[in-house]
Amino acid sequence: MTSTVIVTGGAGYIGSHTTLALLQMGIDVVVLDNLSNSTTASLERAAQITGRSPVFVQGDIRDEALLNGLFEKYPIQTVLHFAGLKAVGESVNRPLAYYDNNVTGTLTLCKAMVRAGVFRLAFSSSATVYGNPAIVPIFESVTTGMPTNPYGCSKYMIEQVLQDLANADPRWSIALLRYFNPVGAHESGLIGEDPNGIPNNLLPYIAQVAVGKLPELVVFGNDYPTADGTGVRDYIHVMDLAEGHLRALEALETRTGAHVWNLGTGHGYSVFEVIRAFEAASDRPVPYRIAPRRTGDIATCYADPSKAMRELGWKAKRGLPEMMRDAWRWQQMNPNGYR
Ligand code: NAD
Ligand code: UFG
Repeated sequence: MTSTVIVTGGAGYIGSHTTLALLQMGIDVVVLDNLSNSTTASLERAAQITGRSPVFVQGDIRDEALLNGLFEKYPIQTVLHFAGLKAVGESVNRPLAYYDNNVTGTLTLCKAMVRAGVFRLAFSSSATVYGNPAIVPIFESVTTGMPTNPYGCSKYMIEQVLQDLANADPRWSIALLRYFNPVGAHESGLIGEDPNGIPNNLLPYIAQVAVGKLPELVVFGNDYPTADGTGVRDYIHVMDLAEGHLRALEALETRTGAHVWNLGTGHGYSVFEVIRAFEAASDRPVPYRIAPRRTGDIATCYADPSKAMRELGWKAKRGLPEMMRDAWRWQQMNPNGYR
């Protein structure tokens, strides 16, 4: 197993859980994060849980000199690249910020990697690159769709860049990890998802309704062609996702080229099923009302994760009840997030 890993965006939601998993494996971690959507509290908590601390560097992935300095200073063999902006709606209004952070940021990171002779990279991609899938479950070789927003386009563009790099230079080993819907929190309840302001995503919204911070959930559409009319997604526990990264890093040690892996559970759950599961886990009601569909939403999206099972030996272990239990524990223990 590789010994020093740089984790960009490592103070954020998925990055902090993955940093924790890396520290638990005895791997040395350098976290680079500009704290635009996080605080270092997540890393302090990860250190509290594991008894080991990552090196933390506050800075931007678009700062090439800073990156060059980090690659010179630390014996980095691998990069886990989470840093970027991720709010779909915001990306429509701030396209430049999204292309700059996500695409320019990744280009800058890759240039510094080439300069340093580091060619092992795992990138946080998204099921958003599939667009509106023609069939479910979605397997990796289906044609990627046309994402309908700048966030999705930025992920799609980065995947193209990374594929081209791997085609041009056989030294690259790249994992394009397409996450489905990450939810939940570490089992300790000490680290979790801490959205800024009103959450965009279903799980943090439900959790804030259950804890009494928001009055009711707004369900975006009950007229989809699904069993109960609400949208269906593949929710995956964030610690399963973190473990998927560990398996991907191991696989990259013996593979070159760019490899796409879906990280999902293979099960789709509707909004109503998630509400009921959360009510069962929290023993609290989640009041809701039905509203029109949200622009850009699709009816159904869930993964065929069998390629990751075959090639990485990875499979999500935690089911919907565990996801809800851990999301609720985090929410209860930290009603105001890390603040
Ligand atoms: P997050 O916002 O919690 O974490 C991203 C981190 O990157 C933050 O800590 C932020 O401060 C940092 N960051 C942003 N721009 C930066 C820059 N230019 N330089 C340095 N640091 C920067 O988000 P997350 O949910 O943990 O997502 C991590 C990655 O996974 C993102 O690339 C996201 O697009 C991708 N992803 C997330 C989801 C999801 O639903 N959460 C789904 C699919 C893919
Ligand atoms: N939903 C509601 N009410 C809410 C929030 C969500 O009814 O307040 C519904 C949505 O309509 C959808 C489901 O809950 O049917 C899940 O919505 P999320 O916003 O939690 O997740 P999405 O599937 O829309 O988006 C996620 C990530 C995106 C990524 C996309 C595809 O947030 O970054 O998956 O991978 F692009």
